[in-house]
Amino acid sequence: MNKNLRIPVIAGNWKMNNGPAASAVLIEKLKPLTANAQCKIVCAVPFTSIPAALNAAQGSNIAVAAQNVHWEESGAYTGEISAQMLKELGVEYVVVGHSERRQFFGETDVTVQKRVRAALNGGLTVILCVGELLGERKSGITSQIVRTQTEIALAGVTAQELQRVIIAYEPVWAIGTGETATPEQANEVCAILREQLAVLYDKEAADATVIQYGGSMNDQNAVELLAQPDVDGGLIGGASLVAEKFAVIVKAAG
Ligand code: 13P
Repeated sequence: MNKNLRIPVIAGNWKMNNGPAASAVLIEKLKPLTANAQCKIVCAVPFTSIPAALNAAQGSNIAVAAQNVHWEESGAYTGEISAQMLKELGVEYVVVGHSERRQFFGETDVTVQKRVRAALNGGLTVILCVGELLGERKSGITSQIVRTQTEIALAGVTAQELQRVIIAYEPVWAIGTGETATPEQANEVCAILREQLAVLYDKEAADATVIQYGGSMNDQNAVELLAQPDVDGGLIGGASLVAEKFAVIVKAAG
């Protein structure tokens, strides 16, 4: 399939940055800069900034994502937020399995799977993050790691549901380090993931799935990364906090 048939998705992961006021300001700045974008634009904002971000984004081509979701609909889960709660606000997307959740908050492949299931049941589109640690890359097991993460996360997800899944390949060694995967490295793993989707589902489903690269993508390197045949977008941390930089990345997506 020609990559051009997939609509690229450029998503900013704001992480724990921007309260409601700052979120509204950033989205207002982004709106004119990205109004003519050919790609989908998503901003993953902190939970407490979601209403302000949605309000600011109203009538624009910017969608709002949450950065996590719990697997139960409601109940005694102090500090957690369900898919239904996000949906009620008008959120469309949710990031699941980010490496920072895996690294700092005990997220496992199994909890990622449960969150994916809950998000899909709740009508959200999932941005599923996978990626290897530096040591794993050095040991030559990158492919094995990302394939296992993907297979477990997608267990039980139907081909129809897969249409609401975006995969973000984020090598952990490239996140927040300024060290970007080369375009070839990024494409190699995105292609491995697409091949795996063809095995788990079929070629049609694999060809239709958006696979992003994330890890120090910025206004300087986005063109080359996004030109790769299997890289359909980006999940951007640091550079998504600066409207002008994020807008350059959006433009680079075509
Ligand atoms: P950086 O772009 O800051 O490396 O972060 C990438 C990331 O983790 C996006 O989810």
